[in-house]
Amino acid sequence: MNEYVIHGGRPLHGEITVSGAKNAAVAIIPAALLVDGVCRIENVPEISDVTLFFSILEELGARVRVLNRHAVEIDSRNITSTTPPYELACRIRASYYLLGALLGRFGKATVSLPGGCNFGGVRPIDQHVKGFRAMGAEVIEGGYIEATAIDGHLHGASIYMDMVSVGATMNVMMAAVLAEGTTTIDNAAKEPHIVDLANFLNSMGADIKGAGTDTIKIRGVEKLTGGTYSIIPDQIEAGTYMAAVAAAGGEVVLHNIIPKHMDCISSKLEEMGVEIEEGDDSLVVRRTGELTRTNVKTLPYPGFPTDMQPQITTALALAHGTSIVTEGVWDNRFKYVAELKRMGAHIQVDGKVAVIEGVDRFEGTIIKACDLRAGAALVIAGLAAHGTTHLGKIEYIERGYEDLVGKLRGVGADIRLVDTPEDPRPELKII
Ligand code: EPZ
Repeated sequence: MNEYVIHGGRPLHGEITVSGAKNAAVAIIPAALLVDGVCRIENVPEISDVTLFFSILEELGARVRVLNRHAVEIDSRNITSTTPPYELACRIRASYYLLGALLGRFGKATVSLPGGCNFGGVRPIDQHVKGFRAMGAEVIEGGYIEATAIDGHLHGASIYMDMVSVGATMNVMMAAVLAEGTTTIDNAAKEPHIVDLANFLNSMGADIKGAGTDTIKIRGVEKLTGGTYSIIPDQIEAGTYMAAVAAAGGEVVLHNIIPKHMDCISSKLEEMGVEIEEGDDSLVVRRTGELTRTNVKTLPYPGFPTDMQPQITTALALAHGTSIVTEGVWDNRFKYVAELKRMGAHIQVDGKVAVIEGVDRFEGTIIKACDLRAGAALVIAGLAAHGTTHLGKIEYIERGYEDLVGKLRGVGADIRLVDTPEDPRPELKII
């Protein structure tokens, strides 16, 4: 069983280069199935979710050529199946994007219900299905989602999203690029990865306008023809390292970032007393003084991202005073708090609200990740803690962070990946 062993209490100093955005990559790679040609995709993050998608695409008949650690060539001219293997697709949330891509190009798709992080309760896809049905698809939901274009191909439609959904916005956008006529998505999500997907598709010959705003218009085209595209830097990976500096102290330069994407995160950290200096494609984050309390509410972009909630909650647990964190997107995203409390944090959770009384320090102990961002937050806690932390279930973290151990060691952290013979806390089975 692999775990991270972290000796905490060291401020971080040095430079980190941010990788390509996970939530853009896991949409852009399946979107390559829409292209009747060859795509070269660059700045691809080296993470397990991406490797899994390469295997899925190969099973569907695509030729996937990994050119180097961060570039891949995908040839989707000879797709032979529209049913990805269940055992692969059920392991990742973003497998739902295979629905939009395959239905959009081939008029049919059968995909297992997606997996991914467990935020308590089901993660519905009713808005995805609503969009596909409005475009003329019959959709049968069970263990699999079976979608078939009634006329053999989809047609344009006006779709109003009942709530702002990243996944539904991107999935409907994919399904619409080759549809007959124009599709309008209203109350669309505006995250940077949505704009990145639209830019990718447009660079392959699509006609999408308004990505990044509440209303996206997609005029269907005959076919997409291939090309080269480079994925945006990962806003959440960058934010995670900024929260690490907030909690552990120090000064780090982050390279390969888009400052505009970081505004929602930088402004909250500045309220906590963290200093941030922006460059054109880099930023310096510095924490030398005390951390101060503040309140955070997670919201769709450009609000504070829910995927940074565990990381900033961890830093606030070391800030002077009382902070309130409200989770505005997911029903139950505080499961990791039990682990922080074992390290000495004072946090009361009531549904979607956490009340945090700052403490002077954490004590290292044996803890476990329960999902991707919770895992990243517990790494941050270990970096700031007094003593040694053993962090288990790190496979969650490796799904979305490229070379986290290497990047943190590069700024002076004492963190190691260790293969331990047996589970030190078998009683703590994470469901
Ligand atoms: C994406 O998930 C991200 N995942 C999540 O990041 C992120 O937390 C989330 O967007 C919000 O930003 C990927 O991009 C692969 P949503 P997604 O549809 O698309 C409700 C990470 O750590 N909803 O925007 O699944 C839903 O229940 C992951 O990288 C419906 O009710 O999120 C939630 O409350 C974790 N019906 C809200 O909308 C639907 O059909 C937002 O969900 C769709 C969503």
